[in-house]
Amino acid sequence: MTGAGGMLGLDVLRAGERAGHEFVGLARAELDITDSSAVEQAIARVRPDAVLNCAAWTDVDGAETHVEQAHAVNADGAGNLARAAARAAVPLVHVSSDYVFDGEAFVDRSGAPRPYVESDPTRPRSAYGESKLAGERQVLAASPSHTVARSSWLFGVGGHNFAATMLKLAGEREAVQVVTDQVGCPTWTGHFAPALLGLLGRGVGGLVHLAGAGHVSWNGFAAEIFRQAEVNCRVEEATSEQMARPAPRPAWSALESERDDVIPLPPWQDGLAGYLAARAGVVRT
Ligand SMILES: NC(=O)c1ccc[n+]([C@@H]2O[C@H](COP(=O)([O-])OP(=O)(O)OC[C@H]3O[C@@H](n4cnc5c(N)ncnc54)[C@H](OP(=O)(O)O)[C@@H]3O)[C@@H](O)[C@H]2O)c1
Repeated sequence: MTGAGGMLGLDVLRAGERAGHEFVGLARAELDITDSSAVEQAIARVRPDAVLNCAAWTDVDGAETHVEQAHAVNADGAGNLARAAARAAVPLVHVSSDYVFDGEAFVDRSGAPRPYVESDPTRPRSAYGESKLAGERQVLAASPSHTVARSSWLFGVGGHNFAATMLKLAGEREAVQVVTDQVGCPTWTGHFAPALLGLLGRGVGGLVHLAGAGHVSWNGFAAEIFRQAEVNCRVEEATSEQMARPAPRPAWSALESERDDVIPLPPWQDGLAGYLAARAGVVRT
């Protein structure tokens, strides 16, 4: 597994350990995925049964000004791994993002917005989203056995994330302002990581959507974080325009799978409860 030092990487390592797999986790200092010969050498040395790519350029705003660097990791780095894994005849699971969509929701027959499914057309609006989409294409072109799992709004104990930020702010302020006009699926890495191993174990190839069930705005997510954590902090409404960031965020990024071989993740509220328990040291992910 690459990206072993990252937020998702930590929980994938833990899930692998728990499932009894012999895991070799390589952090960036041990394997830079942009170095194609280092990738070949690592695969020749480790001789894995499968490869999981948790390495990525994840600075969404920074990608706007470092387009080539983001592309080198998220597109060509993913491609290096995918081609090397294909040459070694082993499957690769690669992680992608809701940012491949433009955030304009499709509606169902009743006129309500519906989650994006795998067959929906992509149209990234940010350099990060472009780089992730290019990575998906390189991975899927390398082998039909490879899997691209798109997820969204990840949070876990192994890294910086929205829930941790909100809990920190709640200790410092009486109120936080959070946007109401971006809606997505918060996904706990403690649920997502074992599900990635499940895809590998069941040989589910191709493109899959895998995110916490249900959807909510960032504002609603913040309110539920404080409710479950029993923290007293007011959540005030804000718009994306008021909280402008260098890279545009998709307004609608709910994901769902239309495939019957994909096992849906538990509701995002359960993921939040798992995260809070893991943070408190009650359970290990
Ligand atoms: N976080 C989210 O909300 C979210 C949502 C949807 C999808 N995803 C996807 O989920 C995956 C995991 O993300 P995460 O949240 O765990 O991110 P993360 O905590 O930033 O982890 C990414 C890891 O990749 C490493 N890395 C960066 N460049 C590398 C390179 N050239 N070679 C090898 N390793 C490199 C980073 O190392 P350094 O720290 O040393 O740079 C970091 O340890 C990514 O594919 C991301 O696009 C994330």
